[in-house]
Amino acid sequence: PGSARVFSGIQPTGVPHLGNYLGALENWVALQNQYPSVLYSIVDLHSITLPQDPDQLRNNILDMAASLLACGLDPQKVILFQQSQVPEHAELCWILGCLTSMPRLRHLPQWKMKTKLKNEGSVGLYTYPVLQAADILLYKSTHVPVGEDQVQHLELAQDLARIFNNSYGELFPEPRALLSSTRKVKSLRNPSAKMSKSDPQTVATITMTDSPDDIALKIRRAVTDFTSEVTFDPETRPGVSNLVMIHAAMAKISVEEALLQARGMDTGAYKGLVSEAVIQRLTPIREEIQRLRADRVHLEGLLAQGKHRARELAAPVLAEARHRVGF
Ligand code: ADP
Ligand code: NA
Repeated sequence: PGSARVFSGIQPTGVPHLGNYLGALENWVALQNQYPSVLYSIVDLHSITLPQDPDQLRNNILDMAASLLACGLDPQKVILFQQSQVPEHAELCWILGCLTSMPRLRHLPQWKMKTKLKNEGSVGLYTYPVLQAADILLYKSTHVPVGEDQVQHLELAQDLARIFNNSYGELFPEPRALLSSTRKVKSLRNPSAKMSKSDPQTVATITMTDSPDDIALKIRRAVTDFTSEVTFDPETRPGVSNLVMIHAAMAKISVEEALLQARGMDTGAYKGLVSEAVIQRLTPIREEIQRLRADRVHLEGLLAQGKHRARELAAPVLAEARHRVGF
């Protein structure tokens, strides 16, 4: 349909890891050919809900932009922009925050997870999901690719669209979740946990700029189990199954085909095959990230274009919201 619009955001965590790629970004690239209007935002306002080093944040924003482009996002097909460059996000967040009750936010995952570590959090962290709702509604987005962990946050965006519409008259469509992928890449060292940027064990996480040697080493050191045969059973054999999943996803083959290719190999030999698949797929992406990273001016120029295109869409929606509220 002509009015369908996709919105999604990713925090500027620097170069993404294999979990980000297979769980989110690969799907983002596919969506640019499936929907007439697609916006992807590097959500730096969200990232300062936890402490950030300013120079590192600036670098991480550009590294994320370079990585998204290298993964195949086409600035002709999508609007790629930096959230803080579009001030309409913060203003709509304020309006929506005034429609949100305190208890509605207390049980949402971001707050619960992040404050478990520190026992206290900022107002910004508490209202993080309201800012997400503003991101989405600002463009009257209809479809939002999310991981399962974000479904509750999207429900808040749906509620806030409804609450605003009931209070001030129909303005926002209720956005729908596009469950992008149920693929979860596990930590190579602890396959009961997900692969994550914040894992202190660097060999547990494959980053998209890892060299072929790094990749081979990390996969060689991946935790498996005491059975040498390669089978797929995520419940009882999470380590080996994670490797099979990674192999299949990176070689773009089915799990069955991956298992056929593994026939007669022990898990040690199979790791070589998995490495090959990962290296082959990541090499052109790594080279493109490095090429793009070297030209900051070009990247900043692309983000400036994205900002202008995003603001063109955001400004009239915010103007209408302000008018409805009585400003
Ligand atoms: P991290 O946990 O490394 O900080 P984020 O929480 O910033 O990653 O996630 C960014 C995107 O990548 C989200 O859409 C999330 O669902 C996806 N993602 C993160 N880690 C994984 C993983 N291990 N497997 C699959 N998808 C993942
Ligand atoms: Na995270």
